Amino acid sequence: MTAEYKVHDDVAIITLNNPPVNGLGFATRKGIVDGVEQALADSKVKAIVITGAGKAFSGGADITEFGKDAAFREPNLHGVITVVENADKPVVAAIHSVVMGGGLELALGCHYRVVAAGTKVALPEVKLGLLPGAGGTQRLPRVIGVEAALNMIVSGETVPAELLANAPGQKLFDELVDSPQELEQAAIAFAKSVANVKDLPKVRDLPCKHPQNEAYFGFARTTVGAMAKNLPAPLKCLEAVEAATKLKFDDGLAKERELFINLMWTPESRALRHLFFAERAASKIDDVPSSTALREIKTVGVIGAGTMGGGISMNFLNAGIPVTILETKQEALDRGIATIRKNYEAQVKKGKLKQEKYEERMALLTPTLQYGDLGNVDLVIEAVFEEMGVKEQVFQQLDAVIKPGAILASNTSTLDLNQIASFTKRPEDVVGMHFFSPANVMKLLEVVRGEKTAKDVLATVMALAKKIKKVAVVAGVTDGFIGNRMIEQYSRQAGFLIDEGATPQQVDKAVEKFGFAMGPFRMGDLAGNDIGWAIRKRRAVEKPDLRYSKTADLLCEKGRFGQKTGAGWYDYEPGKREPIVNQEVLTMIEQYRKDAGITPRKISDEEIVQRLVFSLVNEAAHILEEGFAQRASDIDIVYLYGYGFPFFRGGPMNYANEFGLFNVVETMKRFAKNPHDDANFWQPAPLLKQLAAEGKQFQ
Ligand code: NAI
Repeated sequence: MTAEYKVHDDVAIITLNNPPVNGLGFATRKGIVDGVEQALADSKVKAIVITGAGKAFSGGADITEFGKDAAFREPNLHGVITVVENADKPVVAAIHSVVMGGGLELALGCHYRVVAAGTKVALPEVKLGLLPGAGGTQRLPRVIGVEAALNMIVSGETVPAELLANAPGQKLFDELVDSPQELEQAAIAFAKSVANVKDLPKVRDLPCKHPQNEAYFGFARTTVGAMAKNLPAPLKCLEAVEAATKLKFDDGLAKERELFINLMWTPESRALRHLFFAERAASKIDDVPSSTALREIKTVGVIGAGTMGGGISMNFLNAGIPVTILETKQEALDRGIATIRKNYEAQVKKGKLKQEKYEERMALLTPTLQYGDLGNVDLVIEAVFEEMGVKEQVFQQLDAVIKPGAILASNTSTLDLNQIASFTKRPEDVVGMHFFSPANVMKLLEVVRGEKTAKDVLATVMALAKKIKKVAVVAGVTDGFIGNRMIEQYSRQAGFLIDEGATPQQVDKAVEKFGFAMGPFRMGDLAGNDIGWAIRKRRAVEKPDLRYSKTADLLCEKGRFGQKTGAGWYDYEPGKREPIVNQEVLTMIEQYRKDAGITPRKISDEEIVQRLVFSLVNEAAHILEEGFAQRASDIDIVYLYGYGFPFFRGGPMNYANEFGLFNVVETMKRFAKNPHDDANFWQPAPLLKQLAAEGKQFQ
């Protein structure tokens, strides 16, 4: 049963019951229609209440139907709303907890709405690159005003019911009750009070105009256009709401439908819908059942109060989890704590954090120089220098003091986690937690699964990631894990491109136009060019024949490490982040080309983007087939949340799918013929080659 029917006195009650959030799947839609028809046919019933069981009135579309025929099976949501709105007995929506998307559209089709305080109200379709397609853009402005409705629809943000219910002139809610517990009785009483109303109010009959309609939409178009950048949906939302103010209701509905269908077919919406499912998939580990009992994490220890240790600690403090942070010297400890304070104080100054909250969080932090103080923590995360010898010492000391059953995590970005685990007598309790810098801001967490990591350790860390608002992806033990292993190839390509004739600014601009937050050279300057230098030195020993551009080494030899030295690929004014072109660097590149015997050529932006993005794709395909990532969509998550890949393109793997894997392979074959590139690298990974040959996509 996904919609239950009962009669209380002379009021029929239809209760949506499709856990977890009463998604409006086919069976539920059918249940609503059947319920309304039964109530209309029963002469004893004078009014109808529609409500939701459990945790929501309704969260909207049933996500299990996304992209499937079931989503369109009649009655579709529009059909359900028509039945409800045309009922000749009053229909009252009794709303609590969550009313979103199609759920709100259904409520807007009812004649009356009673809401419980604490309800979250939203039309979040824009977040999937869509617009509300069942009348939401036409009805919401009629009940809360054009401006408020447009804000909600364009942002997709959640608004508390109290705020809406108390807004002057609003017609969204007829009654606000204090709690969900009182809702059903209040709705029944309300239904009885309107049982004899003959001329039932319909939202569709209300007027819809902004007092300065033309001027307002002119202004809104500019603002939304600037905000939406590469996404078509926000402007289409605006167009739909504007239609509500200009067209007859049914024509407005038809316009909304047309715009909705157009958006469904855009690559941007496909990318955002892909991301929605990718995020849900990422939290699942193939061989770890969701029923796995978790270890309890009530307290955390962090080793090292440097760049990463401080940021990592803040994540837990923000979630109300006490942290003990350990350093070797008082001075380093004081510096680390001062940085945490400074970060919080900046948030207080900007009004993003209340002073009391800041103090509460700092009170949860215990600095120490003694390993003995960590005996009782449930999880410890190591973030000391990236040297195996230092990690060995730290893990041996931890093994001696940490209580049995606690989890030992390393934030290493390049070292072998299995070796780190071997420094302890409990490798099953050791896991990698690879945060990204700044660790209190970046959403990505690579959870590194060692050979011996226990399943419940993995499950616990994945659940904890959610608690501290990270998006976690499981990675295997491979050099650079998922993201950094891929970026190494991307950086090599960036080097080849300038060898062959592009300038750093042309490369950066092309990539930023594609949608990346930052091009590879600006990113190098931000992260510090010395990091890549160290990796290249290591590679030169491991793979002496590996081809790469030496320009970055020459840059580092000049001490141009990036923003931190005020000079890298670009110059930077003190305290500023705007890149300024440096002629010396360009001359250095030209000289390098001469020395290497390369005649520079004009390189198109298209080639730049394809070489950079497909280098990610090919390396990712290797990672996937070697089993270091669980699924292609996990790789997308890594790149979207950790490396600034444009969201509207859905990540490198989704982009490759959209481009067509056959086309990707053909393009790579062309790149392999370039004498200044690495022909070996451009051999398509076997998995990619196979999928392309079979006309399939990355899954
Ligand atoms: P950092 O140099 O800023 O901080 C390291 C801190 O560890 C220093 O404060 C140092 O005093 C302390 N330390 C050194 N030996 C210690 C010991 N035996 N016991 C206690 N504390 C000790 O380095 P950062 O950047 O924070 O890196 C730390 C770890 O995080 C490394 O493994 C690094 O590879 C990894 N990582 C760094 C990222 C970054 O962007 N900086 C990103 C992701 C991971």
